Amino acid sequence: MAEQPVRIAPSLLSADFFCLERDIREMERAEADLLHIDVMDGHFVPNITIGPLVVQCLKKQTKLPLDVHLMITDPLFFLEAFLDAGADMITVHRETCSDEQIRHAAESVRARGVLLGVSINPATPLQALRSVLDVADMILMMSVNPGFGGQPFIAAVLPKMRELRAAYTKDISIDGGINAQTAGLARAAGATILVAGSYIFGAQDKRAAVRSLRQCSG
Ligand code: DX5
Ligand code: ZN
Repeated sequence: MAEQPVRIAPSLLSADFFCLERDIREMERAEADLLHIDVMDGHFVPNITIGPLVVQCLKKQTKLPLDVHLMITDPLFFLEAFLDAGADMITVHRETCSDEQIRHAAESVRARGVLLGVSINPATPLQALRSVLDVADMILMMSVNPGFGGQPFIAAVLPKMRELRAAYTKDISIDGGINAQTAGLARAAGATILVAGSYIFGAQDKRAAVRSLRQCSG
């Protein structure tokens, strides 16, 4: 199978929130493809981050597509708010949604020209995705337990990703512990979107960090 081009999605969670504009301009200059925004509710995951208000501000200030990752217990309740705020892709967790809810989410986002991602945690079996693969525009595989940046990559998700790649032709995103080493592993297993927070924002030369992810995975 011909290799699909990779897209790099810096995760804003590791940005300096006092200097968001500076950090986002840096991601634009670094030719990042997407801006990954981690939304956490302190319930599905033990952390609280940002909501639609911030997404709305970002939308006005950057042309980078906003890849909104909802790590929240009730994603459907907040779907319209994130659509109104200007999300370009919205990912819900399989662990938080029934089949019907995922289908409903797919219809709602598509009606607004937005893509739906479905995510699974490292411990969730691939089997859990089977009934929703047809409506997902992207699958996001967590390679850490969601909640925090800077955790080590869980390599045990790679066989799951290879199996998914064999059955699914659309985008597969990987999120958690991605750096110049793990990016190559994820890419070889079939990932087409690499989310990276601490590796990119922790680098002296962020542009070089984005480039290194693109290269080691191409
Ligand atoms: C974790 C988030 C990730 C996180 C990745 O729950 O979903 O997007 O920011 O951070 P790193 O790349 O540092 O593992
Ligand atoms: Zn994320």
